[in-house]
Amino acid sequence: MTERFVVAIDQGTTSTRCIVFDRHGQLVSLAQQEHKQHFPRPGWVEHDAGEIWRNVERLAPLALQRAGITTGQVSAVGIANQRETTVLWDRRTGVPVGRAVVWQDTRTDGLVNTLAHAPGAAEVQERSGLPLATYFSGPRLNWILDHTPGLRDRAERGEVLFGTMETWLIWNLTGGLHVTDVTNASRTMLLDVRTLRWSPQACEFFGVPMAMLPEVRPSVAVFGRARSAFPGVRIGAALGDQQAALFGQTCFTPGEAKCTYGTGSFLLLHTGPELIRSTHGLLTTVAYQLAGEPAQYALEGSIAITGSLVQWFRDQLELISSAPEIETLARTVADNGGCYIVPAFSGLYAPHWRSEARGVIVGLTSYITKGHLARAVLEATAWQTREVVDAMNANSGLTLTTLKVDGGMTADNLLMQSVADVLDVPVVRPLASETVSLGAAYAAGLAVGYWSDLEDLRRNWHRAAQWMPAMEPAVRDREYGNWRRAVERTFDWITPA
Ligand SMILES: Nc1ncnc2c1ncn2[C@@H]1O[C@H](COP(=O)(O)OP(=O)(O)OP(=O)(O)O)[C@@H](O)[C@H]1O
Ligand SMILES: [Mg+2]
Repeated sequence: MTERFVVAIDQGTTSTRCIVFDRHGQLVSLAQQEHKQHFPRPGWVEHDAGEIWRNVERLAPLALQRAGITTGQVSAVGIANQRETTVLWDRRTGVPVGRAVVWQDTRTDGLVNTLAHAPGAAEVQERSGLPLATYFSGPRLNWILDHTPGLRDRAERGEVLFGTMETWLIWNLTGGLHVTDVTNASRTMLLDVRTLRWSPQACEFFGVPMAMLPEVRPSVAVFGRARSAFPGVRIGAALGDQQAALFGQTCFTPGEAKCTYGTGSFLLLHTGPELIRSTHGLLTTVAYQLAGEPAQYALEGSIAITGSLVQWFRDQLELISSAPEIETLARTVADNGGCYIVPAFSGLYAPHWRSEARGVIVGLTSYITKGHLARAVLEATAWQTREVVDAMNANSGLTLTTLKVDGGMTADNLLMQSVADVLDVPVVRPLASETVSLGAAYAAGLAVGYWSDLEDLRRNWHRAAQWMPAMEPAVRDREYGNWRRAVERTFDWITPA
């Protein structure tokens, strides 16, 4: 019998990966391609959706070739994607209308401010489980419709379609299926997070014609068969990348949580089939939905800037030449020397949600070296995690006892130790590092019966590393106090025009 495999497409913010997995959840082959980041104005971030689709078309055969397998040996393909990034295209030609507007883009800050005072704002936030912020797709879609002449009329007539990246990929893979999954839909502000249907009120609030919205489906379900990239293969799952990581970490039981450290960092706590309202600056979001079953929910603490602060340190300040050097540089000094960096580059996300905040470096004296700055860069990620964990504990009534981590930044031992120290709980990392892709593969494999159940997947989770807290409580308290004072200094920097 020919061996069979599952493939994941991880369409991320900086790159797209195509990964082949075997039955044990082991990575068999990987093909990866970065795409161009367009920064046309300060605060604007765009991607070329056409470029991203072409990358998928090129990476698919490459990954299979590297694995030495044929399309016929692929049981299913699963998609994980950067969330909230918004793309519009022509239904007839399939050509994108302008560039995709990326989740980090802050062009809607004025609009979000205005909408916050508009009638119905409270209800829209309550229904969607999300605060009004530049982060989500709804305001972004409104902005695009307002700033492209004639577009709203075309959208009303159903000639122009909206999607987040999984919708765009499935449309292209299948040759015209216009669908989304509940996790991605739950990040638009247009979905009623309880009924899992598009909310007519929210669509009216954001001026979005419902004719342009994709059909909402469960995350773990056969969406259809691919016609290109993987001809004939079933698309078994679509999940937002952070939800995919939760799935890949096998956090299937309420109370289980993970934090993924990549461009930004995202802590998700599985809360079960009952929706828990966020009360402490977290998001209520859908964790996943298996076909024919009720949706599972999560509370999420989203941190916009973590790995991208390391990238900024490397590419804009040029103080290091590769990301891992941040650890070497930080180890040249014993502590932060009194210096703190709060990277509010796109405002602050959880738990503050301050779109008018901008980044600061505080505590500068003649004593500070680039080593101290490197420490402050890493500690910024640790303290932002602490703020989110505090909110999570307060919101859920549960107390986090260990933190499962994954993502590119978890290669940094100093950082992971620092996270354990400031949280005062053990931090554990699984053997599988590509957790986002693994989650998409698991979900797709489950949908087509490649794996039989969640228990089957749980058995694949193996611990590879652990960091134990070792910080003196008095030091922790003092440092946290300093961090919080630093955070306050970022507030109210952008004043309304
Ligand atoms: N050793 C390290 N120490 C600190 N940060 C690191 C280290 N190695 C990588 N990073 C950071 O981790 C990030 C990459 O992580 P990862 O590969 O998980 O992100 P990603 O999935 O590619 O992001 P996206 O999905 O947004 O495209 C980069 O921002 C990089 O700066
Ligand atoms: Mg990623």
